[in-house]
Amino acid sequence: MAADLEVRDPATDGIEALPSREIIADPNSTTMQEIQQAIAEHEGPIPFSQYMGICLYGRNGYYSKGKADIRSGTGGDFKTCPMESTDFCEAVAVAERKLWVAMGRPAVCTVIESGAGNGVMAKDALAWARQEAPDFYAALDYRIVEYGDMALKQRTTISGGNNPATTPRRGSRAEASSPEDHRNDLKKVRWHRGSAIETDLGVHENVIHVSNELPDAFPVEVVRMEHGEPQQKYIGLDNGKLVEMWGPLQPAVSDYMMEFAVAIEEGKEIAVNLNAVAWQQSLNRINRGGIITIDYGFDGVAGQSKAVRTYPKNEQYTPLTSPGELDITSDVDFSVLAHVAEQAGLDVAFSGTQEDFLISCGVPSQDTLSQIKGAEYLPDAEYIRVRAAKWLGMRAAFRALVLTKGIEVKFSTTEAEPMLSAYRRIFDSQS
Ligand SMILES: C[S@@+](CC[C@H](N)C(=O)[O-])C[C@H]1O[C@@H](n2cnc3c(N)ncnc32)[C@H](O)[C@@H]1O
Repeated sequence: MAADLEVRDPATDGIEALPSREIIADPNSTTMQEIQQAIAEHEGPIPFSQYMGICLYGRNGYYSKGKADIRSGTGGDFKTCPMESTDFCEAVAVAERKLWVAMGRPAVCTVIESGAGNGVMAKDALAWARQEAPDFYAALDYRIVEYGDMALKQRTTISGGNNPATTPRRGSRAEASSPEDHRNDLKKVRWHRGSAIETDLGVHENVIHVSNELPDAFPVEVVRMEHGEPQQKYIGLDNGKLVEMWGPLQPAVSDYMMEFAVAIEEGKEIAVNLNAVAWQQSLNRINRGGIITIDYGFDGVAGQSKAVRTYPKNEQYTPLTSPGELDITSDVDFSVLAHVAEQAGLDVAFSGTQEDFLISCGVPSQDTLSQIKGAEYLPDAEYIRVRAAKWLGMRAAFRALVLTKGIEVKFSTTEAEPMLSAYRRIFDSQS
């Protein structure tokens, strides 16, 4: 009955609701102790990036201990595009195949996904390739570079396990795969524990690096302009309480400002992501292949948002709230990544909004989606896809960058790949 479909939510129906994580401010937490020790060893306030590094990557850090509760729908710390939309993941798989074709269809193509979260992008890419591009699937050697305690969640997802926290979204190909398909997908994946910033797996030929929402997690410096002078943020202690302080720029931060010509308005703060530069330099080692980076950010000119933000969203939280229990993140400057890559001889195959990138890989535009008849005309799985694809279109702050070396390929909305096959079925059934 149409009315039933409107009332219930097929994306979450049947999936047990999980409680949200409790965020406790513990002044004696191990993370707090590590920060106190760092400040003592430094004999004074530490640069913000060192503080952020301990919070995220310390012994009991937010990412190192796999605390990130990434969910589809409501609840959790935050949601990401792969968790929300199977179209997003299939479009990335289309892009990976396109790069593989441009490489001349080598017998082995290594895809290295860094920071794979719950593993849904890997799962959907494998399921898409298995069903839509078996020759590409046969060539796929999928690696995951992951810093945190996420491998178990990722393995559960890739092996088809239906854990509510990690399940591939309802309506994905993965949900319709057989136990044998899941086993074959799992056999394709290898894990490497470490930081993507410095991990080099030694594969530089016929390789594709891919990430979604990774460099935004790298520890950054925060810089502001005060009476015409740039200053850098430090974190210190005042009567045992964490406090922010401002001081002179470290030489590496000054160099960044000069090299990338960053203009800061008086009173405004910006993030300086030296780790993103180091990461891009390490990716630049590829001789033949591509790098797909998707994240929130900007192209040269920062927006008005805060330099760093915390998740889960709560107006009371600042980066000093509950060290090690919250995500701390900053917008990524894609012009810096492209610049660092071009200096090393890489080509830009795409730089633009995430939406245009997805359209170039076969996701229908918002105009096309609006032509699809409403929920009452669609089976649940298709309704979920279409609804999630419309949501993707609202993610205006997200960008994509595709860099290549040794191959010729471009991604553009005017010469887009064929529309994802799920939509061909939807349009056929509605005509
Ligand atoms: C914001 S989550 C994004 C997860 C996933 N890509 C998604 O879109 O759902 C960031 C992921 O990157 C991992 N991560 C953070 N810093 C990392 C680093 N330096 N090296 C490797 N993985 C990292 C985290 O553990 C987490 O899995």
